[in-house]
Parts: sequence; C-alpha cells; structure tokens
Amino acid sequence: MHYYIITGASRGLGKALAETLLQQPDTFVLGVSRHTTIEHPRYQHQPLDLSDMLAVQNNLHKVFPPFPEASSLTLINNAGVLGEIGYMGEQPNEHFEFVFDVNLIAPAMLMNTFLRTYSGISASRTVLNISSGAAQRPVDGWAAYSASKAALDALSRTVQKEQDIRGTGVRIRSLSPGVLDTAMQEHIRSAETQHFSETDKFIELHEGGHLVKPAEAASRILAWLQSDKMTPEVVIRIDSI
Ligand SMILES: NC(=O)c1ccc[n+]([C@@H]2O[C@H](COP(=O)([O-])OP(=O)(O)OC[C@H]3O[C@@H](n4cnc5c(N)ncnc54)[C@H](OP(=O)(O)O)[C@@H]3O)[C@@H](O)[C@H]2O)c1
Repeated sequence: MHYYIITGASRGLGKALAETLLQQPDTFVLGVSRHTTIEHPRYQHQPLDLSDMLAVQNNLHKVFPPFPEASSLTLINNAGVLGEIGYMGEQPNEHFEFVFDVNLIAPAMLMNTFLRTYSGISASRTVLNISSGAAQRPVDGWAAYSASKAALDALSRTVQKEQDIRGTGVRIRSLSPGVLDTAMQEHIRSAETQHFSETDKFIELHEGGHLVKPAEAASRILAWLQSDKMTPEVVIRIDSI
C-alpha cells in the first residue's frame, strides 16, 4: 500500500491531490485540515488547525501512525494561507505569526516528525512541500506569504542535503504549482488595489481563463511524483516537471 499524508485536503489543490490518488488502487490518504469533505473507504481525516501550535504539538502523533506494510510513504505539506493582504506597517502583528505558523512552522514540524517516525524503514519516503512563485519574487501585500514560502524552499534544500549526507534515500522537493483556480485566487482577486498592486492582473488571468484547474495540476504533480524520472533539483516549478 502507498500511504499519503496531505495537509489542506479539504479543498483546492490538496483535495484534488487526495481525490486523484484515491482513484488509484493500493493508495491510502490521511488528510489533515480543519474541515473534512472527502468520504472514501481508503481516506482517513485528522481534524487539525495548523495555526494552533499547541494543537499541532498534541496531535502530531495521530498524523503519523505506524504503517508497517507500507511500500511508500509521502507527506505533502500543501495547506497554505495568504492571510490578510496588505503592506507591512499596516498589519496587526498577529498576521505574521499566523501566516508563518501555517506555511512554515507547521510544515517544519510535520517534516521533522515524518522523518523521525519513519526512519530506518525500507519503504521509499518523500516529502513534497507546496511552495509558490512568490517565494522567488517580491509581491507587494504578500510579504509574510512570500517570506514563508522562500523559507520553505530553503528548509527543503537543507533537509535534502542532510538526508543525502545520511544516505537515507528520502526525497524532499518544494514545488511551485502555478496559478490555480481555487479559493486562494478568489481571495487574491478581492484585494483592494491600495493593498496589492497586481489585483487587476489576477482578475485578467481569471477572466481570460488562464487559471489551471486543481485536478489538472494534481494529475501532473502525481505523474511526476510517482515516476522514477525525478531530477535532483529540490526547488522546482510545475512547468518544469
Ligand atoms: N492557488 C494558487 O494559485 C496557488 C499558487 C501558488 C501556490 N499555491 C499554494 O498551493 C497550496 C494550496 O493552495 P490552494 O489554492 O489549494 O488553497 P485553498 O483553496 O485556499 O485551500 C487551502 C487548504 O489549506 C487548508 N488550511 C488553511 N488554513 C488551515 C489551517 N489553519 N489549518 C489546517 N488547514 C488549513 C484548508 O483547509 P481547511 O479550511 O479545512 O482547514 C484548505 O484545504 C498552498 O500552499 C498555496 O500557498 C497556490
């Protein structure tokens, strides 16, 4: 059986990844998010608010049960938030804690626990972190989001280096999934232009039909993840896979 642990499996890209996987035989998905929207005999849900660090600490063991008959184990850190769009100096301080907790601190704790729990087993192990193009360029109004995704990229590169030094065979990747037709994009399009200079550009992308459906992105990501043709680059964009 191939086991997948996916955060943010209740909607958007995470749900599409889970549903696409569940169409395949020999897969089991454990989804982690505040809400549950998938019912399937091979799906298990762990309700968890990834912005609540105490809840994360107390419930992490439930996210990584023993899977003794696993032939592969994959953690997909997909849950992410932009938080309130706006410029630094005009935000409540809590905004930064919230965005960094969900986008960086929780994924780091999940990676750490995944690697510790499943160390020394023969099943192939992969961690896929869902990053963003905003990690590589400054986007006004998205400072915390951009910085948290850039840190996720740096975390991924460093952890891959550590796994290579240890010779574990664990693969770590940080993937930017492109512009997707999800609730996150609705949030972006609703931003007032004094808080985000690119609102019109994102409205045009939507109206021009340029947003990629989550199911399409999920199929492409999984075809790459499940192939043996993965290149050694850790930080990658969906158009290069
Ligand atoms: N959409 C894009 O164009 C785009 C572009 C680049 C990168 N990305 C990245 O792709 C990933 C998926 O984005 P998406 O567009 O699918 O987002 P989305 O539609 O907004 O879905 C976000 C998912 O994250 C979960 N989530 C949010 N806050 C959470 C919390 N506090 N605790 C637990 N789970 C939480 C949500 O579940 P609950 O609400 O049930 O908790 C939901 O399942 C994110 O990492 C995002 O940064 C998206």
